[in-house]
This record gives sequence, C-alpha cells and structure tokens, in this order.
Amino acid sequence: MGARPLNVGLIGLGTVGAQVAGRMLGWGPQLSRRAGVDLCLRKVLVRDVRKRRSIEIDHELLTADPSQVLDDPSIEVLIEVAGGDEPVRSYLERAIAAGKHVITANKVVMAKHGPELLDAAAERNVDVCFEAAVGGGIPLISTFRVDLQANRIERVSAVINGTTNYVLGRMSAAGLSLAEAVAEAQAAGYAEADPTDDIGGFDAAYKLAILSSIAYEIKVRPEEIYREGIERVEPVDFRYARELGYAIKLIAHTQRHPGRVEARVHPAMVPLDHPLARVEGAENAVFVEGDLVGQVLLVGQGAGGGPTASAVVGDLIDLARSIRRRVQSRPSFSFDDRIGVVPIGEVKTRAYYRIQAQDKPGVVAAVGQVFAEEGVSISSFIQKDAFSHDQTAELVVMTHPSLDASLQRARERMAGLEAIRAVSSFLRVF
Ligand SMILES: NC(=O)c1ccc[n+]([C@@H]2O[C@H](COP(=O)([O-])OP(=O)(O)OC[C@H]3O[C@@H](n4cnc5c(N)ncnc54)[C@H](OP(=O)(O)O)[C@@H]3O)[C@@H](O)[C@H]2O)c1
Repeated sequence: MGARPLNVGLIGLGTVGAQVAGRMLGWGPQLSRRAGVDLCLRKVLVRDVRKRRSIEIDHELLTADPSQVLDDPSIEVLIEVAGGDEPVRSYLERAIAAGKHVITANKVVMAKHGPELLDAAAERNVDVCFEAAVGGGIPLISTFRVDLQANRIERVSAVINGTTNYVLGRMSAAGLSLAEAVAEAQAAGYAEADPTDDIGGFDAAYKLAILSSIAYEIKVRPEEIYREGIERVEPVDFRYARELGYAIKLIAHTQRHPGRVEARVHPAMVPLDHPLARVEGAENAVFVEGDLVGQVLLVGQGAGGGPTASAVVGDLIDLARSIRRRVQSRPSFSFDDRIGVVPIGEVKTRAYYRIQAQDKPGVVAAVGQVFAEEGVSISSFIQKDAFSHDQTAELVVMTHPSLDASLQRARERMAGLEAIRAVSSFLRVF
C-alpha cells in the first residue's frame, strides 16, 4: 500500500480476540484496501503466553508484559478484548494518555467509566470506539453516532441479553423451570458457569447505561438504572401471559422526559404483536424511536466471537481511515451533566399480578379496595379455579398505567391481607 502501516496492539486472545486476530492476519489485503492503509498486528497481550490458542499465531507476537503494548510508541491503535474492570481501565487510560486510539468491546468499563475515557480521549485528540460493547455484531453505536445524528432520540427499548432471552424462551416453549432452562443454556454455550450477571439483569443494565448515554448524550451510570432480573418469573406466568396476549421478555428501556430520562431493566409482559416479543433464542433486538426517523428496529447476534469481532474490526477500519486522512470522521461526544434519571417510583406503567388467595367470599372486594385506595385502576381481573386441596384461588390482575410506587404499595398491602396467601408474581407491562 506504500504508506507507513498502522501498528495495532491487541489485549486479549480469547473468544473475541482470536477472531479479531484471525481476521487481521487472514484478510490483510481486503482490510488494507478498505482502510486505505496496511494494518499491522504488532503485539498481543495475554495473561499466559504458553496457553494453547484457537488460532495459529506467531509466538513472537505474544507477550504477558503490558508495557510492550502500552509503552510502544509505534503502536497507534490499541484494541482491548480482555474484559473486566481493572486492570483494563488503567490500561486504557494509560494508552489514551500516550496518544493512542482505543477500540474496546468492554461494556463494564464503558458503562462505568465511558464518559471519563471519552473526555480524556477528546483532550488528547484521539478516539475511543466501542461498537462491540453493546449488541455484539449489531451496529448500534455507529447508528446513533452517525446515521441517526439528525434526530432527537425519544426512546430505546431492547432485548439486549441473549442468555436471558434464551432462558425465558425455553421456559415459555417447554415449560421448564428457571433452573432447568439455565442448565440447558449452559450446556448449549449460551450461559456462563456463573450466570448471575445475565440472570440478574446486570449485563443488560451495563448495556443500557451505554445506550442511554449515547442516545441522549448524558452520563447515565449503571447504578442509576432500576434493575430487576428474571429470578422470580415462574412457568405458570408464561401461560397466563399467552392467554392475555403477551410474551415475557427481559426488557431494557429508556425514554426521554422533560429534563430527565427513564432507564430501567426488568422482566416485562410484551404484547405479542410488538417486534420485541418475537425476538427468539440468543438474538438481540433494539427498537429506537427518533423524532425525524420514527421507529427503527435493529436485530442480530448480540454476542459470539465472530459477530463481536465484526464490530471491533469495523471500528478499526473506520479509525484507520480517519487517522491516515487526519480527519475525525465521527462527531465527538459531549455529555450534559444536568439531566438525571427518573426514580422508578415515579415511572408510569401497567402491571400484572398473580395472587394466591383464600377461596372465600369478600376476597375479591378486599383486593379491589386496596387497588382503589392506591389510585390504581384495574383493566382485567381473572379468577382461576380454586385448588381444592387447600382452598386457594389464583387471581390474575392487570392494571391500567399507574405510578410504580402505587403499584408497589398495592402489592405490599395485598400481601399483608389476611385472606391473601401470597402475591406470587408482579410483572410490569410494556
Ligand atoms: N464473547 C462474547 O460473545 C462477547 C460479546 C460482546 C462483548 N464481549 C466482550 O469482549 C471482551 C472479551 O470477551 P471474551 O469472551 O473474548 O473473553 P475471554 O474468552 O475470556 O478472553 C479474554 C482474553 O483476555 C486475556 N486477558 C484477560 N485479562 C487480562 C489481563 N489482565 N491482561 C492480559 N490479558 C488478559 C486472556 O488471556 P489468556 O488467554 O492468557 O487467559 C484472554 O485471552 C469482554 O469485555 C466481553 O465482555 C464478548
């Protein structure tokens, strides 16, 4: 290609890193043509240089010494696909301070420290690219940053965690318990040995923090996001949901309000005719609404080595082009510090309750009175057959939109009624 090659340092050679290295080493001419410059993989930082790798790679390229990647002045771009918070965040800060551009797939670092890293990068006149940090291979960040930049984003709703979507799908289709569905997901390679991050909604909250920060150009921290996992969803809820015309999904939702934004992750009943209700298996889907464009739906593989490497190497080509042309092709971010997140209690939503009640006169009236006193209006009330062995009846209540705080108070007050054995399920309706 003539011009001086662009030297790239890579941190991580696991599921994603091996695919990134494989594409860089095996597809050099095509990448160079698209980037307008030869891309040279100069060094790969790993923890253990002796470990067997899934790709063939020159052993000389590997190092376990961070300074060989971070302090080599010939490396202009650092790709980080190692994961976790520290030491990776410090590595990225160090690289930026040394004037290197950064590409990362790390949602934890970007959700917790993204705005600071982007500010530091802007000061050093380098870029931080993180397309792979949310939605794997689905082009989300570039969609917000480039294609939708003429819009005011009004809301973003997403099925953004493939593991929980797979698990909920199996509970719905095969009537499996949560534990059975998680075990199946682990056997199929869709869930980690410790699935807490996914099942508890933490992973989705990290991704939503990044998405809402980018969509509205504000700083949304993961801890500001209301988060509830899928631990309490039971197989019977899928049956009632279907009867009522809904699917159950782990939804990440953010919405603009005057001077504030709503940002929440929780299982929700989604109308069967909504596109998010039809997201199957480990797929991800993101539904965006902008004031000019209207509604846009992005669907695809939200994880996996190949799809994630597609986003990483796409960022690399884009970055390489602008580095060599000495232009910044993408607008930089500026974050408005004055916009906060609406507390969940102030969010208006509809709700579904499944209640175990004593099968005796006056129970329905008592439940209705609690809702009335909390200002919650009921849209449907179904009483299922009593379980004759213990005289328990199952009540299913759907409400009209109400303040979440009122819905929660109604739930607590009902649980305290003498005639109520348990409020077994509470789900917000999307
Ligand atoms: N896998 C996916 O589907 C996916 C999807 C989207 C985003 N991501 C993100 O991509 C990143 C990588 O994920 P992955 O699945 O590829 O992880 P992985 O398979 O566990 O690989 C991690 C790699 O990073 C290296 N590494 C970890 N900590 C290190 C450290 N302190 N210093 C040097 N090297 C270190 C490891 O070295 P050794 O090999 O020597 O142990 C390994 O090669 C994570 O941020 C993840 O959230 C992954």
